[in-house]
Amino acid sequence: MEQDQNDPLNVQPESLIPAPALPGRVVTAETPERVMELLAADLIAHALNCVRHFGDFHLALSGGNTPMPFYELLMVDPDYRVMPWRRTHLWVVDERRVGFEDPRSNWRHIHEILVNHSDIPAEQAHPILATQEDAPEAYERLLRETLGWREKGQDRLDFVLLGMGDNGHTASLFPENAVLEERRRWMAFCQGPDVTPPPRVTMTYPLINAARFVAVLVIGAGKASMVRRVADGTDDYRALPIKGITPVAGELRWYLDRAACGA
Ligand code: 6PG
Repeated sequence: MEQDQNDPLNVQPESLIPAPALPGRVVTAETPERVMELLAADLIAHALNCVRHFGDFHLALSGGNTPMPFYELLMVDPDYRVMPWRRTHLWVVDERRVGFEDPRSNWRHIHEILVNHSDIPAEQAHPILATQEDAPEAYERLLRETLGWREKGQDRLDFVLLGMGDNGHTASLFPENAVLEERRRWMAFCQGPDVTPPPRVTMTYPLINAARFVAVLVIGAGKASMVRRVADGTDDYRALPIKGITPVAGELRWYLDRAACGA
């Protein structure tokens, strides 16, 4: 069920999960499976809508552990066969600076689970070539060229799926890192002592915050204390980079299971 923070009850009517007062809208459900179903329904509704309006759909996906069962669900559940993969451009939110054969490569998993099993055309699946020296510039160039087919104002990502680390990072925007101050470039390296190795290439705030829809998927009790800190604390984006996710003309929606809500 979906909750609006303007709703004074702020309680999930179906299962009575008290939703944390996160920025944007908050969708909660009892189980991870149910959360993923709600996310899949929103993703597909947005995809179909964009294809109707623009003829294509630009989707950016994160790596990490949490979204992998979601990607599997999209492939195996017959309800989700309506997803318009043939009209989708698939982008990667961030990548570790390793080759695709490395198990730490996000693309390796996204490719194995999604690209291999959907009818997305090969030329619309866009890995970050993260080991190259010009990886951020090259990916940004490709994004700008491809989104540039759209009319001005619509040349932005349609749907960005993020996660949140237990230190409050999102994408590869790590706490206290210089990449958090990027205001112009769409892609950048993220490296340094506070970055969980290996170094990364990441979408930046300007690109993510321009998106039409930003979904943040957070599952499990291990994230509950960070969810609480994001909702109630006074830390800024430098301490908790997820707090810098503030879409300028788009929607931010969280998807949490009961455990992540700390309920
Ligand atoms: C990555 C991600 C990263 C991730 C968080 C949460 O490549 O690792 O893009 O930002 O979303 O670290 O990861 P988990 O979902 O595995 O906890």
